Amino acid sequence: MIHQKKIGILGGGQLGKMLAIAAADWSLDIHGLDPDKEAPAKGYYKTLLCGDFNDYNTVMSFGQSMDIITIEIEHVNTDALKELKEMGKTVHPEPEALEVIKDKGAQKLFYQRNHIPTAPFYLCENKQAILSLVENGVINIPFVQKSRSAGYDGKGVLVVDDINKLEKLFDTSSLIEEMADIDKELAIIVSRNESGEYSSFPAVEMLFNPVENLVENLICPADISEQAEKTCREIAKTIIEKLDICGVLAVEFFLNKDGEIWVNEVAPRPHNSGHHTIEANYTSQYQQHLRSILNLSPGNTGLCTQKAMMVNILGEANHTGEANYIGLEEVFQMSNTYVHIYGKKNTKPMRKMGHVTILDDGSISIKDKAKKVLDTLKVFSK
Ligand SMILES: Nc1ncnc2c1ncn2[C@@H]1O[C@H](COP(=O)(O)OP(=O)(O)O)[C@@H](O)[C@H]1O
Ligand SMILES: [Mg+2]
Repeated sequence: MIHQKKIGILGGGQLGKMLAIAAADWSLDIHGLDPDKEAPAKGYYKTLLCGDFNDYNTVMSFGQSMDIITIEIEHVNTDALKELKEMGKTVHPEPEALEVIKDKGAQKLFYQRNHIPTAPFYLCENKQAILSLVENGVINIPFVQKSRSAGYDGKGVLVVDDINKLEKLFDTSSLIEEMADIDKELAIIVSRNESGEYSSFPAVEMLFNPVENLVENLICPADISEQAEKTCREIAKTIIEKLDICGVLAVEFFLNKDGEIWVNEVAPRPHNSGHHTIEANYTSQYQQHLRSILNLSPGNTGLCTQKAMMVNILGEANHTGEANYIGLEEVFQMSNTYVHIYGKKNTKPMRKMGHVTILDDGSISIKDKAKKVLDTLKVFSK
């Protein structure tokens, strides 16, 4: 039955590539749409249609020849997805949920409506509106500005922790959030299928690059109390249920210093914080997404190692152009260390070019190993 289904994925980046690799285990019929004809998933999807996933007509014509349509990026044309759903296609995640998630403001209103704990916030139309609220003492520094629609990988996020930073405010429709007093940043990947079966993966702790607001590495399991882990898993389950989503959903949390847990944001697709599940868990997030959209039972989400770390391999500063990987051979000499290179032709500073997962084998500290990987494996331009 699953082999009769044509699965169409909007997007052909590294997440799409890893979905396609997981799909290959079961010989699924998987196809993709991406504006870049050299996208990382090229050669992994059975076919890659070159086109804009934000364009109504393009998504319609791609989707019409599919049975199941899913995504690996949320910035896609949801009007077309709604229409495809009307036509009887299976669309996961729900286009309505995608619309809520794509807009960071609507996402916050959803949390508020559903009594899901999150940082207190305001929605402002533009820079002037923010400045007025600051002047009137309604918004206090420090705060965080997030562009409602343009953000990913820390782009569109500005931490205003000093009065001089007010100049840097983006002049755009914004979400203004109270600054969280963060002890740890956590993420949970939860899944759901049409029969209402759930799963959740163990919480991971994300370690951020403070300059770029970008995940650099993560460790699993997170060093948190059983109660905190349970709370995060329950919140994640509530969110996926209320959004009526099938597939995987990544939920990012702040564990604050006072012990409170706030939801930061969600992504209704495989996520950077679940890369390690390929080697570290019995079922990967990619398999789990495919199982969920095909209405198959979820696989075992347990860790098959004591501990795992994942480091993102980012394009080196000051290097733009055709990618050249330095230190790969040395990393291949390291035990229980698994390299993933996404195959992007060109590098630029901070671009996600690959990742490395390290499983704990008790030899040397996993953190030391991760540091060695980051110090050794570099992406330069040729
Ligand atoms: N309210 C907040 N308080 C403190 N730090 C924050 C807050 N919101 C975001 N950040 C920091 O900025 C990072 C990126 O913000 P996020 O909303 O997750 O954007 P992105 O979509 O780029 O991942 C977070 O992971 C966190 O480190
Ligand atoms: Mg984030």
